[in-house]
Amino acid sequence: MNPTDTGLKAAVAGATGYVGGELLRLLSDHPRIADVRGFSTTAAGRPWSEIHPNFLNRPDQPVFDAFDAGRVGEWADIVFLALPHGESQLIIEAIEEGSPELVVDTAADFRLNDLDLAEGAYGEHQKPELLGSFANGLADIEADALAGATRIAIPGCFATATMLSLWPLASVLSAESHPVCWAATGSSGSGANAKTTTHHPFRAHNFYGYSLGGHRHEAELEERLSEWCGPSAPSCSLLTHSAPMIRGIHATLRVRLADPVDEPMELLYAAYSDRPFVHALDQPPRLASVVGTNHAHIHAVARDDGHEVLVLTVIDNLIKGAAGQAVQAMNLSFGFTETAGLEQMGIAPC
Ligand SMILES: NC(=O)c1ccc[n+]([C@@H]2O[C@H](COP(=O)([O-])OP(=O)(O)OC[C@H]3O[C@@H](n4cnc5c(N)ncnc54)[C@H](OP(=O)(O)O)[C@@H]3O)[C@@H](O)[C@H]2O)c1
Repeated sequence: MNPTDTGLKAAVAGATGYVGGELLRLLSDHPRIADVRGFSTTAAGRPWSEIHPNFLNRPDQPVFDAFDAGRVGEWADIVFLALPHGESQLIIEAIEEGSPELVVDTAADFRLNDLDLAEGAYGEHQKPELLGSFANGLADIEADALAGATRIAIPGCFATATMLSLWPLASVLSAESHPVCWAATGSSGSGANAKTTTHHPFRAHNFYGYSLGGHRHEAELEERLSEWCGPSAPSCSLLTHSAPMIRGIHATLRVRLADPVDEPMELLYAAYSDRPFVHALDQPPRLASVVGTNHAHIHAVARDDGHEVLVLTVIDNLIKGAAGQAVQAMNLSFGFTETAGLEQMGIAPC
């Protein structure tokens, strides 16, 4: 790869989806991307603005290209896949026949290395031989490992928020720490296709838990915790809730510690002081402060004389939890400035 190359072409597959739309927006303003195309199976020939109304304000009116995996891989230097789970594994070979320099997948297809874990969480895998060949796109933690990566899998949005909370504690966790992360998400987390439980009248003034018997993102947590903590890795329960908002995840992690930690904020400062997108705050974070941005805000509190620690993290699920993290991972892969194309402020009130 040539990091001085300024004329890169980026393709987004699944461009009519919520993550696809955010990728189109972020990549359109990226200083190192010369051309962005949105490839679609359902909207070829129609303006982006018909699906994503924020593009109505663009002076030109780009239209969606018809999706054809071979054509996408041939045209693009970088391919972003924003497809429902299961689709990436069906098209990855055809995409890579065109030899793009980088493929970034926002779905779960290649997030897990272990076949049993992957199939336990998501069912039969069509390309098991490719598991383990994608770099882990947890960009705020894996920055160095992403340099030069040619395949990147972006973690799930709940997994991202939870792992940002767990990572600073990795050195003090044990098998008895029993981490539990209680997390609430907005409706855009379910994608653009309406379902009964995402329909506005059902969702707008409602609040409920789901997948409480075991959320699929727990498999990613298990794999990361075992990398970070070795044989003494605890398993983390993820308790997911649907909140009456459109964007954002608020995650509250609670762990028990045999050896007390009196100043857990020190662990957060040590983990993130040199990271551009994760900010350790001295008060509980507020979701509205990160909505529309690639930033994460995080705070920790000790209880029970330091034997119990709470870590609260907020992110925008579509940006830090998907499209923004994907662009950040691309920046790290190519050796671009890590924050390139990701410096937007959010909006307030939102
Ligand atoms: N939403 C989030 O907060 C979030 C966060 C992290 C990760 N993710 C992951 O990112 C991926 C995209 O999520 P999303 O929320 O953007 O989903 P989405 O809104 O449902 O969009 C997915 C897009 O994929 C395309 N597609 C291709 N084959 C399809 C098929 N068989 N069925 C349905 N759509 C198909 C469609 O675009 P065309 O019609 O243009 O082809 C569709 O708009 C998913 O794997 C999701 O798990 C989502």
